[in-house]
Amino acid sequence: MKRIAVLTSGGDAPGMNAAVRAVTRAALARGAEVFGVRNGYAGLLADTMEPLRARDVGGIVQRGGTVLGSARCPEFAEPSGRSAALRNLAARGIDGLVVIGGNGSQTGSAMLAREGFAVVGVPSTIDNDVYGTDVSIGADTAVNITLEAIDRLRTTASSHSRAFAVETMGRDCGYIALMAGIAGGAEVIALPESEIAPAEVAKRLRGAYQRGKTHALVVIAEGARCGVKELMRHYAESRDSIGFELRVTRLGHVVRGGAPIAADRILATRLGSAAVETLVQERHGMLVGASRNEIVTTPLAEIAGRTRPADAALLELARVMAI
Ligand code: F6P
Repeated sequence: MKRIAVLTSGGDAPGMNAAVRAVTRAALARGAEVFGVRNGYAGLLADTMEPLRARDVGGIVQRGGTVLGSARCPEFAEPSGRSAALRNLAARGIDGLVVIGGNGSQTGSAMLAREGFAVVGVPSTIDNDVYGTDVSIGADTAVNITLEAIDRLRTTASSHSRAFAVETMGRDCGYIALMAGIAGGAEVIALPESEIAPAEVAKRLRGAYQRGKTHALVVIAEGARCGVKELMRHYAESRDSIGFELRVTRLGHVVRGGAPIAADRILATRLGSAAVETLVQERHGMLVGASRNEIVTTPLAEIAGRTRPADAALLELARVMAI
């Protein structure tokens, strides 16, 4: 493997830069040249890529976002888009590609792999829904950001005897809401993986009030059907019987900004380096992931179109802790 390109694609995630650095330095250490592609698959189509040397990726391990830029690129799903990308890669003599991104991005890498190009995927999305890894780069930082918001809301909630509903990101996966909800001692957690009716949320809030709590927190995954709107509508109809006043905070893109925590930097460094090893060993068309703290590889063909749901069984633990 003489020339390796690396790109970041889809929604950015804290730790992507640490992964770019790891790919670059692991490849340079193996004697390969490295090219950084701008703005994900769009950069492959537009042929916007630059050589990356060891110093070019200095001082980025701690930075959030992605220095390469990212984009969602529907053209890449079309055969003509992929042909243009493959032509550009061939013209530059690039013989391997590392794709750092979430589900949509790894579906793109599976398509490239099917067309015979040497590609390896590195899972990176705050949603933590990529099949083939226990954890994706950025997810645990997003949990921590959500948790910090929950902790802050709890102090003001207690002072005013209020309930707060906190909506966090995660698309169709409840991982961030579940983990932050457990760590933050939420009274109720609403996930796409295990639906809960607004009336049941209200019942649990009322129960918390009757048990003498001075605050109650409801953590809602953005993909849950019982979303903040449904909850507020229900609450408006039954506010007299709940006890608490209810306020809503939607965290939105705050959840995926900022510096990666240590766990994400370490995960990114391990996975980025493992991606280069996998390419060098000519084990192409793989996603490198982490399972039980070991590096594992799964064919991209098995990843495409599948998702990894949050472990809804943990909701029972959260419920017991909320008594
Ligand atoms: O996939 C990452 C993610 O942040 C999701 O949690 C969220 O639903 C989505 O991206 C938001 O997408 P955009 O940044 O395009 O608004």
